[in-house]
Amino acid sequence: MVMIVIGGSSSPKLSAALASELQATLGKTEIKRFPDGEGYVRILDSLEGEEIVLVSNTYPDEKLVETLLLCDATQEFDYESLVLVIPYFGYARQDKKFNDGEPISARAMVRALEIYPDKFLTVDIHANSIIEMFEATEASNVSAAEAIARKLKEIGVDFVLSPDEGRIRTAEKVGKDIRVQSDYLVKKRIDGSTVKIEPKSIDVAGKRVAIVDDIISTGGTIVNASTELKRVGASAVIAACTHGLFAGNALDRLSACCDQVISSDTLENPTTAYSVAPAIARAMK
Ligand code: R5P
Repeated sequence: MVMIVIGGSSSPKLSAALASELQATLGKTEIKRFPDGEGYVRILDSLEGEEIVLVSNTYPDEKLVETLLLCDATQEFDYESLVLVIPYFGYARQDKKFNDGEPISARAMVRALEIYPDKFLTVDIHANSIIEMFEATEASNVSAAEAIARKLKEIGVDFVLSPDEGRIRTAEKVGKDIRVQSDYLVKKRIDGSTVKIEPKSIDVAGKRVAIVDDIISTGGTIVNASTELKRVGASAVIAACTHGLFAGNALDRLSACCDQVISSDTLENPTTAYSVAPAIARAMK
């Protein structure tokens, strides 16, 4: 029995790194688009009797279709087992109905994906409650905190902050790993039109500060936080996230107010600085 990693087109480096961590074969695929825009995938290796690890994203939407096609392609083989790794689980921020008539988008994704694998893994899912939505397969969430901590230790920071209280756990874990204090940012209303963002209890004046978040999308959260941290005297602000979506001109806006922006290889982009492959490999053992 051999283990084989099949990677979608959205995360080729992560797939290769994971194959190396697992001492598995990296399978070959053909992925292209028809002239009318529809996707086409083909797995070029035989998966008969194999332990398959399929690594594919559901973001942006076209990658969701690619993932479904790759999942379906595996069904044509008499394989041993299938682990589906979705490095960035899209639509996780709509994990409940906020207004009448809306879908629970995260649940729609779960239902579409859970029918294929024996085991499902994702990384730093936006809401842990989504993992509980899986009924047809075993599902787990992998933390990127250790990879982020290793990189921030190399860069050198004095404090690790989360953008709000709700996400303090990752900042705490990263801070603990690199032996620096962690805290979260709070919004303080000064008057009717002024809101200040400040760390809950630490003084960042003259300090190098990391802000750790699961997702950077428009960059708005980090731009606001970084601007305020600089205003109160932080000497450097490093923005670290797991999933770098960087919508529109987010990277330009972030570069203007952060000293460094780093992200993991769940979504490969110019800021990718650490790999979640070791953490995924550990979760598979
Ligand atoms: C929010 O709940 C998330 O953890 C991120 O803080 C958010 O998605 C970041 O979005 P943006 O970059 O658009 O501010």
